[in-house]
Amino acid sequence: MNDLIISASVLSADFLHLETDLRNVAAAGSDWLHLDIMDGHFVPNLSFGMPLIKAMGKLNLCPLDVHLMVSDPDMYLPACQEAGAKLVTAHVEACAHLHRFLGKCRQMGMQAGVAMNPSTSPEFLPYIAETVDFVLIMSVNPGFSGQRFIPSALDKIQRVRELMPSAVRIGVDGGVNEQWAPRCREAGADTLIAASAIFGSDDYSAAIARLRV
Ligand code: DX5
Ligand code: ZN
Repeated sequence: MNDLIISASVLSADFLHLETDLRNVAAAGSDWLHLDIMDGHFVPNLSFGMPLIKAMGKLNLCPLDVHLMVSDPDMYLPACQEAGAKLVTAHVEACAHLHRFLGKCRQMGMQAGVAMNPSTSPEFLPYIAETVDFVLIMSVNPGFSGQRFIPSALDKIQRVRELMPSAVRIGVDGGVNEQWAPRCREAGADTLIAASAIFGSDDYSAAIARLRV
């Protein structure tokens, strides 16, 4: 199995003291920073945009994992590249031409990820297996942090592990906490994304350690 990666989702960081909070979470051992981009259209919320992502990139703390919850993911690729993103993930539900999108990410020097909503079947994955680096299983309906983990994500993780080559990373995003983390790992996830479970704690190191199972 791939090594475990913990990616702290900045959506629940302290926006009034963002730099300090990001430095603290990186020092506490977060492997990546997960940046949720929303457009108020694909999801009913707005988060932060590309200028802030570029600013976070300049801090050079951890690899940036950008999660595009937007209706037109292609439009954001140049800015992700400029911000130095390591990985860009778009939703299959938003991509009319997913295969092309993934190829474009790689051509631009970034890893290519695909995310799917809780109601989406993973059976499309074999058709893009050669062009994808990361599969993100949403365990909540996207748009907000602090929601409850939807348990059917566990079966989906297992199915995705069966469908994909072992080098493809499998992430889970939404409601991941110390209760669900071991079950996600058992099912085959190697990348755990968490906002509330980390930023909601007084001790980021301890919170991250509790997710490392
Ligand atoms: C939800 C976002 C998540 C969110 C996770 O749409 O994609 O990354 O920040 O938040 P928690 O871990 O609180 O569910
Ligand atoms: Zn996310």
